[in-house]
Amino acid sequence: TPIAILISGRGSNMRALIEACAQPDYPARIALVLSNNPDAPGLDVARSAGLAAQAIDHRAYPRDREGHERALDATLRAAGVEYICLAGYMRLLTPFLTTAWKGRMLNIHPSLLPAFPGLHTHERALENGTRIHGCTVHWVTEGMDEGPVIGQAAIPVLDGDTPDMLAARVLVQEHRLYPAALRRVLAPATIPVPDAADSLLAV
Ligand code: GRF
Repeated sequence: TPIAILISGRGSNMRALIEACAQPDYPARIALVLSNNPDAPGLDVARSAGLAAQAIDHRAYPRDREGHERALDATLRAAGVEYICLAGYMRLLTPFLTTAWKGRMLNIHPSLLPAFPGLHTHERALENGTRIHGCTVHWVTEGMDEGPVIGQAAIPVLDGDTPDMLAARVLVQEHRLYPAALRRVLAPATIPVPDAADSLLAV
């Protein structure tokens, strides 16, 4: 299945998906990596992996979010993309894109949704005294970080954790969860033996 990965920054989740797609039995192939930020380090990572990677700068569409999304949408369709994985894509989406790709767009978020939607999730989890934290892959709907859950991975919060320490341990789980969740979406009947990542998934 041809997918696109949308990024804004370093693209470590993108890299995890690239590695998964390199496995012969994985049900996705990456048709395109797109960024709203021409300086995203992840674009170079994608190009080094031999992938088509392109920036569509949102700053070329001042006060016109939908115009920017129409350009993204046209590019995605021209590339034959069927599913979109948002991976550290830091733009709020309008109903134009969420409607056009309803049921075909996934996002990864660094908390156990519905806890801590939005930014600074690790700081907020620590301030809140949360003992179980983690990450979520979910369907993208109109509301930010609101769509139905596809999979989650959980970790304990440890005494003495800082936001950075917590973020690093959650990120390890993000990199396991996203490929596993996408596999479940694209090939739900082809998971022969549960592995460690599957046991972390609540689908
Ligand atoms: C990840 O923590 C992701 O969950 C969040 O933004 C971060 C992106 O990191 N939405 P990367 O660009 O995938 O390294």
